[in-house]
Amino acid sequence: MLIVQISDIHCGPMFNYGSFRTAIEEINALSPDLVVVTGDITENGILTEFKMAREEFKRLKAEKVVYISGNHDYRSTGYLLFKQFFPFNQVTESGDVAIIVLSSARPDRDDGEVGYRQNLWLENTLENYKDYIKIVAIHHHIIPVPDTGADQVTIVDAGDVLRSLTKNRVDLVLCGHRHRPWRWRIEDMQVLHAGSVSCERLRGFFLYSYNVIELKGKRIEAKLKIVGGDFMRFEEVTGTPDIFQYSITPAK
Ligand SMILES: [Fe+2]
Repeated sequence: MLIVQISDIHCGPMFNYGSFRTAIEEINALSPDLVVVTGDITENGILTEFKMAREEFKRLKAEKVVYISGNHDYRSTGYLLFKQFFPFNQVTESGDVAIIVLSSARPDRDDGEVGYRQNLWLENTLENYKDYIKIVAIHHHIIPVPDTGADQVTIVDAGDVLRSLTKNRVDLVLCGHRHRPWRWRIEDMQVLHAGSVSCERLRGFFLYSYNVIELKGKRIEAKLKIVGGDFMRFEEVTGTPDIFQYSITPAK
């Protein structure tokens, strides 16, 4: 099974059309079983940006797409628009894989929160999917990411959520928000942070990118794909890349 994670599209003034469209062409060529969009589809949560985003996403030819809201989408009462433009289910099943979405964005706030009730729901839901490969997707990062500057905007109840995830043996967590690709491993769980696929506000890793995840039975192999460039192993994503060795800054 092939899953692609793209994140932090930011339709609006910082949106790089060239990068997004190149990425979508590449993703279509990969024919993934599932695409997970981990939030910040718009910059300001306004109607014109949601319309723009919907038009751009029409290019994507994936069978299943899971859309998750980010803090930028919830600005300017954008939470009312998000559910109209990008409706999604909190649980998506595909064979023996369950993708569970946590909503961490809150109206007009940049920090995130899972909340006691949603965390309880998560634990109960994971219990029902014991024998599945369990993937949890959330916009905010649950662990700090290096090379991203002062980290004052995380989810306020990260400790409780991490405990629920590890206790219930989640296999993979997909996060966005920081615009800097990274991977942590906690016990047997991989936590994959996506870079931005098309927002000019990149941090620490100044190339547009997305994640490509292959599930081979219980084995999860995640790679980073630079938009218009090469695949990279996550072990190589250790510092700031020398951007001059890449001739792939996608045109606008
Ligand atoms: Fe973002």
